[in-house]
Amino acid sequence: MWNHDQVTSPPPDLQPARRTRTRLSFRSFGSSDRSEVVKLLSIGRPPDYLGFKSAIFDWQFHQNPHSDGRSPFLLGEIDDGVDEGTLVALNGFMPTRIRFQHHPMLASWSCDTYVSPNYRGQGFGKELTQRVSNAAPVMLGYGISDMSDPIFHKYDWLLHPHVALLFYHVAEGGITGRLKNLGSRLIRRRRGHPGSSSRALSCADNEPFSAEVNELWDQSRSGYASTVERDAAYLNWKYYLHPLHRYITYSARSHGRLQGLLIARHSPEESVIVDYCGPAEDAELMFELANAAAADLAHRKTLRIRCETTHPPMIDALHRAGFLASRHASRFRVRSNLPALDALRGWFLMTGDSDNDMLAGTRPGLIDSGPQRS
Ligand SMILES: CC(C)(COP(=O)(O)OP(=O)(O)OC[C@H]1O[C@@H](n2cnc3c(N)ncnc32)[C@H](O)[C@@H]1OP(=O)(O)O)[C@@H](O)C(=O)NCCC(=O)NCCS
Repeated sequence: MWNHDQVTSPPPDLQPARRTRTRLSFRSFGSSDRSEVVKLLSIGRPPDYLGFKSAIFDWQFHQNPHSDGRSPFLLGEIDDGVDEGTLVALNGFMPTRIRFQHHPMLASWSCDTYVSPNYRGQGFGKELTQRVSNAAPVMLGYGISDMSDPIFHKYDWLLHPHVALLFYHVAEGGITGRLKNLGSRLIRRRRGHPGSSSRALSCADNEPFSAEVNELWDQSRSGYASTVERDAAYLNWKYYLHPLHRYITYSARSHGRLQGLLIARHSPEESVIVDYCGPAEDAELMFELANAAAADLAHRKTLRIRCETTHPPMIDALHRAGFLASRHASRFRVRSNLPALDALRGWFLMTGDSDNDMLAGTRPGLIDSGPQRS
């Protein structure tokens, strides 16, 4: 499934790098590279990034239940006889089991694409990305930066045109903020009436996902053309076992049976709806869950609630629950080696996909402030 040899051996058609004087050689990650990788990634980032990334590193790269044990990084070292062996470029991989146009397969998120500031503009970023592009039949990138986006474009990573960013405004400050709060409240009051559903909604803080979530996903997965497999092992790793963040699960049940769940993270500043597991087309269920989450997170005190998704029924549900569309959605790109399949059609993406919410913590105090897991 993985073309790992293609990642470390020279790509056949690599363009000559601009201003290249220094050669780069590529290799896989070894456990002794950990601190150097974290150190490199921390350059130019907020001061607490290093502690944060160190705290999540093993969990992010070594405990992922979708991983098949491949190297979590591609590393680029100087190979010029002078700074020989200096690590200057790297790219992280987060393997993920997906459905791609209804076909199950192992893909990979690309994350932590980085070239040391002193070595930028020499073509290393392109060399790295070209190799990364062939690491798996389907490569995914979410939250792509302005700097690296043109490079991904160059190597045929297709940009998803419909990522929607939405906010439920609770207690924003300033005149514009207050108008937004009013907007969210008015829409919710006007449109936010549940239908005649008999589902019971409940909320649980920091609880593991059990076997019934696997049943729910087994019943729901065929409704999605392309998505990360949201099985219990994946959700447990991503949310329940996060070393620093604590997540809340909103569940909907009918006659005791789990119908769907929405996962969120509370923060006094900006709370986030990160994930959904359940039927693909049940916008009423999504609305009921989003409505419950908005009420609960507002009650816990937060300025706003953010959610990002590509999924039209989820966008409708969020609108109905009082979420307002915003500009500046993150970039989501898909790179496929499987030419017969439409790489962008029917993607279900949520805020928590890839490393998106993992890294939303480089703020002072976060590492010590989370409640302890019982
Ligand atoms: C994005 C990044 C990996 C690019 O690495 P790089 O080695 O500088 O990239 P390259 O030298 O291969 O240049 C690639 C393209 O970027 C642009 N670019 C890079 N450095 C540039 C510079 N100093 N001046 C002008 N353009 C530059 C160019 O468009 C170039 O393409 P072109 O020569 O075909 O026009 C690097 O800037 C980086 O690590 N940035 C910070 C972290 C980041 O944003 N990571 C991405 C997370 S998604």
